Amino acid sequence: MYPESLLAQLFQEIFLEKGIDEKKDRNFIQTLNEHLPKIHRLYGEIYAAHPEGESQFKSLVKVLVEAYQSREKGLRKRDEEKAKTGTWFLSNQLAGMSLYVDRFAGNLKTMPSKLPHLEELGVNFLHLMPVFESPQGESDGGYAVSDFRKVDPRFGTLEELISLRKKMHSKGMYLMLDIVLNHTSHHHEWAQKAKGGDSYYQDFFYAYGHRSIPDEFERDMPEIFPESAPGNFTWNEEMGKWVMTVFHRYQWDLNYTNPHVFRAMLENVLFYGNLGVDLLRIDAPAFIWKQLGTSCQNLPQAHTLLRLIKQCVQVATPGMAILGEAIVAPKEIMKYFGTGEFIAQECDFAYNATQMALQWDMLASGETQVMLAAQHQILQKPYGTSWITYTRCHDDIGLGYDDYMIAQAGKDPYVHRKFLKDYFSFSGDQWMSPARGALFSSNPKTGDARISGTLASLCGLEKALIEGNEPAIDQSIQKILMMQAHSIFLGGLPMLFYGDEVGYTNDYSYQNDPGKSYDNRWMHRPVIDWEKVSRKNENGTVENRIFSGTKRLLQIRKSHELFSDLSNISWMSPHNIHVAGFVRRMGNARMYCLFNFSDKAAYLTWYAFRELGEGSARLWDHWTESEVEVGPDHEYLILEPYGFRVLEPKA
Ligand code: GLC
Repeated sequence: MYPESLLAQLFQEIFLEKGIDEKKDRNFIQTLNEHLPKIHRLYGEIYAAHPEGESQFKSLVKVLVEAYQSREKGLRKRDEEKAKTGTWFLSNQLAGMSLYVDRFAGNLKTMPSKLPHLEELGVNFLHLMPVFESPQGESDGGYAVSDFRKVDPRFGTLEELISLRKKMHSKGMYLMLDIVLNHTSHHHEWAQKAKGGDSYYQDFFYAYGHRSIPDEFERDMPEIFPESAPGNFTWNEEMGKWVMTVFHRYQWDLNYTNPHVFRAMLENVLFYGNLGVDLLRIDAPAFIWKQLGTSCQNLPQAHTLLRLIKQCVQVATPGMAILGEAIVAPKEIMKYFGTGEFIAQECDFAYNATQMALQWDMLASGETQVMLAAQHQILQKPYGTSWITYTRCHDDIGLGYDDYMIAQAGKDPYVHRKFLKDYFSFSGDQWMSPARGALFSSNPKTGDARISGTLASLCGLEKALIEGNEPAIDQSIQKILMMQAHSIFLGGLPMLFYGDEVGYTNDYSYQNDPGKSYDNRWMHRPVIDWEKVSRKNENGTVENRIFSGTKRLLQIRKSHELFSDLSNISWMSPHNIHVAGFVRRMGNARMYCLFNFSDKAAYLTWYAFRELGEGSARLWDHWTESEVEVGPDHEYLILEPYGFRVLEPKA
């Protein structure tokens, strides 16, 4: 590795070669100077001992310079504007949606015509689910990428993607895309060359001629898709080797012990930065480092690599924030924000997967104690970082929070998890549960299972519509809006999932498609019927009620700066176990957000407000648009079943 003392010389060589101008590129040189010691150190931690560590370090610096040089003027200006606003992504003005371009709009060309629908709703931040080339039938919804730089023809072209981004930016919208860092499709050029016997590319993957190392790995590695893709290795006949495939057989894990892999993937990261991506979702970062004798998840080296990526992004494409999609145990999720010297210098965002799952726990159980038991972890998020808050996404709902949290709430973890699985999965002879979902990736060896289903179906709308049960329809809409309100006001960037804004129920047609039938997550990935969507304009329809309710929630959030993610949330004491309540504060302003998770009316003593030492005689509810008069301590605020309030003290 280059000793630090030679870094200046290395710079000079590269600057000369690349035509970096001391005057014109002064800002860049300064940023590079600031970050290079850290980049050098982090890189050294991983690759110092590698025979090609040094030469690859030089390539890495070149990659940074090239990415900077090819950054569009407009994007550089956007970088500067973002830097001026401080941490731009904490703002309450942002509201997101995840969607599949093809299933939502048809393709990238038709996508702009759907932007008005999103603008009407109040969404200005789009997560386009993977759009890069991915083989049909073996695509994992686009998460098996065969070319990181070629837009899949079924969506359109790279030019169309760029033009969409420009259109979005001109409308004040933001773009989020994925980089699938952990693996490639086995059709990717690197995998193809590896299959053809090229040892340089075989080293891009974990490939073994003998079962002994795979067997050793298997001893400690859990299975991600135990039903559809058991085990973590797949035999490849062409190479005559076992390849590590943690996810599906067709997703080959990249080997980050090889500095060539890191450099090549960093180039892709910066390529996305230069496409104009505002937030890069790093898919499955928990898995990028593998080590025998471990679960191969959340290892310290994975964090080092993410920190290194963050430093490099700050140098070359600084306006792009990073989201780590770490859907892991609560205390592990927190580490993706960075720890120690790197606090708030790893991922800018993580998914608040713990809270999301706990919202579903509360909906099923009608009780809030398990959720509250998890807060001591969740509230440790460092200032300057943020959550993606969400109710549903394209993936299953994992019940990944810890058993001790359940036990702390006085429940038996095994029995409680079984209850949740039974509640949400429809098995035909369902008892009292209105939910219509399905178990995903059940593992009979461990008893684990996750849950698939749309927001609406899990909230009872599917069943209520089939039965034509009007009161049940009303109640499910109430639940949908309460679930959305909870994640919209919580703190973080709310990310809706397309279709939920108009109450899509499960779509079972995936069962007839052999490329999808093995994966029931497709039940909650609808193909949008715009005629159905247009019913949002007819008063009183289900679509209208859900759309207008969701829209109003986003409006309320946008009208109050205290909903920015300023780490300004505190939970209210649980005076009633059915009611979750938090306060958001900013200066003297505050907002009490209360949610009744039970199917019965809930009573909350007025003391719940006074004990915070901030009594007020009158409160204004932004949701029902009515004034609430605060009574004495032995009187109550009454919340209807699944009712919620967004209360602001009045002077
Ligand atoms: C992420 C994606 C999921 C995918 C997996 C493998 O968890 O969200 O959809 O199956 O990564 O790429």
